[in-house]
Amino acid sequence: MCMKKVTVKDFREMKGGDHAISMLTAYDASMARLLDQAGVDALLVGDSLGMVVLGYDSTVPVTMEEMLHHAGAVRRGTERALVIGDMPFGSYQVSVEQAIANGTRFLKEAGCDCVKLEGGEEVCDAVRGLVRAGVPVMGHIGLTPQTAGQLGGFKVQGKDMEAARQLLADAKALEAAGAFGITLEAVPAPLATIITKEIAVPIIGIGAGAGCDGQVLVTNDMLGLFEKFTPKFVKQYCNLAPDIKQGVQAFIREVQDGIFPAEEHGFAVKEDFSDLLTPEKK
Ligand code: KIV
Repeated sequence: MCMKKVTVKDFREMKGGDHAISMLTAYDASMARLLDQAGVDALLVGDSLGMVVLGYDSTVPVTMEEMLHHAGAVRRGTERALVIGDMPFGSYQVSVEQAIANGTRFLKEAGCDCVKLEGGEEVCDAVRGLVRAGVPVMGHIGLTPQTAGQLGGFKVQGKDMEAARQLLADAKALEAAGAFGITLEAVPAPLATIITKEIAVPIIGIGAGAGCDGQVLVTNDMLGLFEKFTPKFVKQYCNLAPDIKQGVQAFIREVQDGIFPAEEHGFAVKEDFSDLLTPEKK
C-alpha cells in the first residue's frame, strides 16, 4: 500500500482503476488511526455518529458542532485516507450561502478534505455553490437517512422504472453540479451497476451490490460493535461486542476479588510511608 495521502483528485481517478475503493465511517481519532493503518482509502465522518455514538434514534438531531468535534478527532488520527465530513440535516438546505458557510467549516475547523451531503437534483445549487467556493462535494442518493421519513422509512429505493429513472437523473445532476463522487444507498444491484456505468465519477455503494466503484460500511456495524439493529446489507467481519463484554466482566470480577491491580501494575518507591498513618489506623 502506498502511504501517500489520498486526495480528492486521487479518489476521483480511482474510478476504473485496478482496485475497488474502500470507505468506512470513523468518529474518533483512535479508531480512525486503526482503519487508516489498515489501508482504507476513505474515512467518512458520517452523521450516523448520531445513532452509533451519540445515542439518538436517528441522524436528524445531529448538529454542526457535534460533527466538527468528531471530524477534527478523525482528522488528527488519519495520515493517509481521504477524510470526508458529512453535512448534518439542516446545515445545507436553507440557502446556498448557508451550505457554503457550513461546508467551509468542515475544511477550516476540522481539517476535512471534502464534505458529503444527501439529496439529488434538489441539492444541486448547494453542490455548485460549495464546489465554486473550493469545497469538494460527494453526493448521497438512494436511501437518504436524513429524510427517510419522506421515503417511507429505511427502505430499498429505485424499485420501479420511474424511481430508477429519477435516481439516474439525480446522479447525472450531481455529476454536472461538480460532485467528485456519489454514495448510493439501498438500491437494487442491477440499477446501481447501470448508474455506475453511466456516471464518470466514483459510485460508492452501500446495499447497492458489487457493480459499484467502491463500497462503504458503518464501521460499528461491520465490527459488530452496534447491537441495536444490523441492516441486511451489512457483512459483519468481527463480532467485538461479546469480546468487550467478556473483557469488562473479567475486569469487574478481578477488581471485586482483589486480583487487579497486581504488583506489576503499581509504582514502588524506596521510601517507607507507613509513618503517615495515624496510630489507630496502623
Ligand atoms: O452517515 C453515514 O454513516 C453514511 C453512510 C451510511 C454512507 O452516510
